[in-house]
Amino acid sequence: KAVLTTKVMGQEIYYYPQIGSTNNEAKKLAAGGCPEGTIVVAETQNTGRGRLARGWFSPYGKGIWMSVVLRPPFSPLEASKCTLMAAVAVNRVIRQVAGVYSGIKWPNDILFQGRKLVGILTEMSAEMDAINYVVIGMGINVNIEEREFPGEIAATATSLLAVSGREIDRRMFLAAILKELETAYHLVQTGGFTSILDDWRSQSITLGKNVDVIGPDHRYSGLAIDIDNEGALLVKTAQGVRKVLAGDVSIRPV
Ligand code: BTN
Repeated sequence: KAVLTTKVMGQEIYYYPQIGSTNNEAKKLAAGGCPEGTIVVAETQNTGRGRLARGWFSPYGKGIWMSVVLRPPFSPLEASKCTLMAAVAVNRVIRQVAGVYSGIKWPNDILFQGRKLVGILTEMSAEMDAINYVVIGMGINVNIEEREFPGEIAATATSLLAVSGREIDRRMFLAAILKELETAYHLVQTGGFTSILDDWRSQSITLGKNVDVIGPDHRYSGLAIDIDNEGALLVKTAQGVRKVLAGDVSIRPV
């Protein structure tokens, strides 16, 4: 029932009932020379990681905790293209297959009614001006019951089951994501990144909103007006337009 129709994505699959973090394992495999498209997927993670040194709740058998290894032929400055394309690809599948009208919060969270359905953690290794590998890690909250979320997460996270009332076959869902990812990646490599950007814009729930930008040592607010080709968010403030890089900031609606 779950048929993989991809040529690159998921041609090698490392499956673990339990692991520390699929991103860590994927980075090891990537450093060891595994082929592009290799994925690591686990039923549960003991030390799942999120952005900004946060953890990631990864209950057994309830989500898709997955990392994919890419070797994009472009400069490290363009690596965020991979993240943006991943967000667009996953959001498409959620809308089409799960029928949930989710949106993308910059840089790469997928939310439904303000709560997180998917988190994406991209990590890169580069030397000089060439990318060695990019690992895209995705945490997709699929069949988690509302009451299973620990207290501190319950306010900010949700799952496809909680919002749609339906259980989803994770293997079918993963196959659909890999297919969509492959299509998007092909587009990015053949000069079609602007169409990915357009999709990102149309699926974004950040653009057009007033946001607080919160960094380690600064904080300001403004209107999110666009993203640029490098995936930076452009925020219009009283002092002018500021370019926000995903690195170590978070944003939230004002
Ligand atoms: C975030 O929203 O902060 C990003 C969360 C990314 C979680 C996924 S789960 C699979 C992969 N392995 C990890 O340790 N993290 C990512």
